Amino acid sequence: MSNRLNVAPNDLSAFWMPFTANRQFKKAPRMLVGAQDMHYVAADGRKILDGTAGLWCVNAGHCRPKITEAIREQAGELDYAPAFQMGHPKVFELANRLVDLAPDHLNHVMFTNSGSESVETALKVALAYHRAKGNGSRFRLIGRERGYHGVNFGGISVGGIVSNRKMFGTLLTGVDHLPHTHLPAKNAYTRGEPEHGADLADELERIVTLHDASTIAAVIVEPVAGSTGVLIPPKGYLKRLREICDKHGILLIFDEVITGFGRLGTPFAADYFDVKPDIVTTAKGLTNGVIPMGAVFVTDEIHNAFMTGPEHLIEFFHGYTYSGNPMASAAALGTLDTYREEGLLTRGAELADYWADALHSLKDTRHVIDIRNIGLIGAIELEPAAGEPTKRAFSAFVKAFEKGCLIRTTGDIIALSPPLIIEKNQIDELIDTVRTVLGEVD
Ligand SMILES: Cc1ncc(COP(=O)(O)O)c(C=O)c1O
Repeated sequence: MSNRLNVAPNDLSAFWMPFTANRQFKKAPRMLVGAQDMHYVAADGRKILDGTAGLWCVNAGHCRPKITEAIREQAGELDYAPAFQMGHPKVFELANRLVDLAPDHLNHVMFTNSGSESVETALKVALAYHRAKGNGSRFRLIGRERGYHGVNFGGISVGGIVSNRKMFGTLLTGVDHLPHTHLPAKNAYTRGEPEHGADLADELERIVTLHDASTIAAVIVEPVAGSTGVLIPPKGYLKRLREICDKHGILLIFDEVITGFGRLGTPFAADYFDVKPDIVTTAKGLTNGVIPMGAVFVTDEIHNAFMTGPEHLIEFFHGYTYSGNPMASAAALGTLDTYREEGLLTRGAELADYWADALHSLKDTRHVIDIRNIGLIGAIELEPAAGEPTKRAFSAFVKAFEKGCLIRTTGDIIALSPPLIIEKNQIDELIDTVRTVLGEVD
């Protein structure tokens, strides 16, 4: 790490950065050149406390030895194996380990390379499942306002963030949306699940009445909406969605790309909320963010619906060159070992109260209009600066980085989701930095 600390590229123009204000960044770049455990190292050598687990993915902390070693060994042993009509042992081992970890009713897993691909895979499985069962008229997909399901066409179609959708034409047809569940007038400053809003799930009944259940394949929601600014489901909301889906033969997909792998203090949000989705999408924490990989979990019922017809024929025409590739599989196995040995998938539950107290101590801080938390996720919503939405939160992000903390902002919301190895004194440092920064920004 040390010999690379001061390396600075001399031209930043070639790289068109994702989800970034490119021109602004390139005038005052924020470069990370190293990382260990809870910290990044900035290009000027400063240690930066990671308040966001990278992008909600580095759940075990940075450069963890089991993961690094697994990748190193794998690179010298089997670098790549064709994903179609061929196998390698680690991907089967990983699939078994994952279904053991997942809720009992999810017994099969497909691999992808990202959360976006997991979502596309899940939507396609849902459509194809109904068709395989003789219900090909079920072609509609229902998402939710403010939902984030990645950036591919299926994901932005069921997603509900306008900036991610408006530039891209007609998107998928046959998509409808539930209302979001953010009710600040009733639920502001709630610790954990809000009291009000479970009835918003009944909007699914309205959509069913409009389109008829026989046309609807699946509902997809994030159990906790993350990227839109941390919207925590009202008490009973997800259970109600499940009931309505059951009543009408609609599949329920949980997009657990953020909530999977311990973020709420349970392995999956399905465990936390005690709701059984038919399909679960994951990525991020699966490999601790180290190598791109996603996984889609399905029930026996869904899997077995495809296992018909002549055995020499491919059952499902879908997959990626890198599905379950050896390097990613090794990284995921090293990650699961680390989670297990350090009890990280339940550590969030141990820290949840301390985390909630720390976050809610910001209540009377300047600019703050709401605070939300669940597991090891927190959001601090700011009053937008007059006529300049997002600017205040972005200034807070830049100042926090200058003061040695990485936070994340979306709109005028600060979203925090530290690695699950965070210590209490580091929670204090993170929250104190946010407090200081909010005192300084206009
Ligand atoms: C719920 C959810 N789904 C899908 C995605 C997309 O994942 P990726 O960026 O790996 O494609 C994300 C990313 O933040 C996410 O939060």
